[in-house]
Amino acid sequence: MFPGAHATSHSGWIRVTDLDGKFLAYTSGNGGGTGGSASHTHSEAGAGHTHTQVQHRHTFSGGTNSGNVNIVLGLVTFASTTHTHAAANSNYATATNQNTISTLGATTNLPSYIDVIFKKSDGTTDIPDGFWAWFDSSSTPTGWSIPAGPKNRYVRGAAASGDGGGTGGAVTHTHSAVAHTHTQDTHGHASATSAGTTGTTKTGTNTQNDAVLAHTHTVSLDTLVAVNQNATIATISTDADEPVYEKLLLVQNDTGGGDTPDGIIGIWLEDATGIPAGWARKTITGDFIKCANDATEIGNTGGALTHTHTDTDDGGGHVHTQTAHSHAGTRLSTSDSKGDRVSGVTAVAAVAHNHTWTSSSVAATNNGAVVTFASCSSKAAYPAYYEIILIKKQASDEACYLPVLGAG
Ligand SMILES: [Fe+2]
Ligand SMILES: [Fe+2]
Ligand SMILES: [Fe+2]
Ligand SMILES: [Fe+2]
Repeated sequence: MFPGAHATSHSGWIRVTDLDGKFLAYTSGNGGGTGGSASHTHSEAGAGHTHTQVQHRHTFSGGTNSGNVNIVLGLVTFASTTHTHAAANSNYATATNQNTISTLGATTNLPSYIDVIFKKSDGTTDIPDGFWAWFDSSSTPTGWSIPAGPKNRYVRGAAASGDGGGTGGAVTHTHSAVAHTHTQDTHGHASATSAGTTGTTKTGTNTQNDAVLAHTHTVSLDTLVAVNQNATIATISTDADEPVYEKLLLVQNDTGGGDTPDGIIGIWLEDATGIPAGWARKTITGDFIKCANDATEIGNTGGALTHTHTDTDDGGGHVHTQTAHSHAGTRLSTSDSKGDRVSGVTAVAAVAHNHTWTSSSVAATNNGAVVTFASCSSKAAYPAYYEIILIKKQASDEACYLPVLGAG
């Protein structure tokens, strides 16, 4: 692998464009498979979350009498045809919010990387000066050094026709949350007694079914579905997402010329049956190869197939504000009737009269909720990769070059 410019040519070596933009995944089978993805996300665990509501009530009042009017003789103590009812308290109700499964925004799957140009040999030349190759021993080959750039990083194929040497990525990440809301179930308020009348006093003797001045109505507030506002989970933990890896040392040919030292580890992209003489398969336990900081880390393992995140909101999690709502009312009954008629001709409210009932506008309070996120599916956070076989040059075979299709 070459960490320099695309324009630099090396006799006997050509760029493996299949590896452009790809990480190397180790396989114990045959090389050539691909997998991984550009990004991953998480959904909420289980059936999602909901928010309980705090009970609420409204005041309600009746507008000008709109019901039947009786004509009576004489002065009466009935409710006038223009009476109203002042505000009184409704009964409490507690609406129910429905569950919602919240989803996190996607995050890029890029572990800490350094870009290289993967080049393959034609089988006739040594590994050129300046190239990198894997090594699994503390005794660095003569004339080879341990470059600083790849330490604790993964090698990635540079973008098509791009140069090596660029770095990026991270071994931890978080996600932004997507706003969500919860649909409420229908609620109403059980019937309650209105305030008395505020109309003009009339005095008389009743012979009809007229509403007395001091009457009230039993009113229920009609059902409706109140609306919650969107809310976003405020803070989500930052977590590690490294793929399962094993560390190998990356060494650089600084001999000033071509060199293929014993024990150097190349990359084989084809079927295992094609591994040529002089090279033997090297096995590791990881899915990916991470560059060791130094020889003491060779064989170290880490990473995971999955990871998850937690909602780190303080104070009980996120809350949805309910948009204020009000109810229309329905009269169920009138409390009393039949006053005392004296004389004269007067229009008064009949028992059957009604009002337009309106309630105050109230926003019920939703309680907070802390969301639990599910793990990503296995390998969902693995970056786009190309499966390769590792091959190690066997001792004392000076004529053995890294073969065709190996990119060292
Ligand atoms: Fe994640
Ligand atoms: Fe209500
Ligand atoms: Fe009334
Ligand atoms: Fe919510």
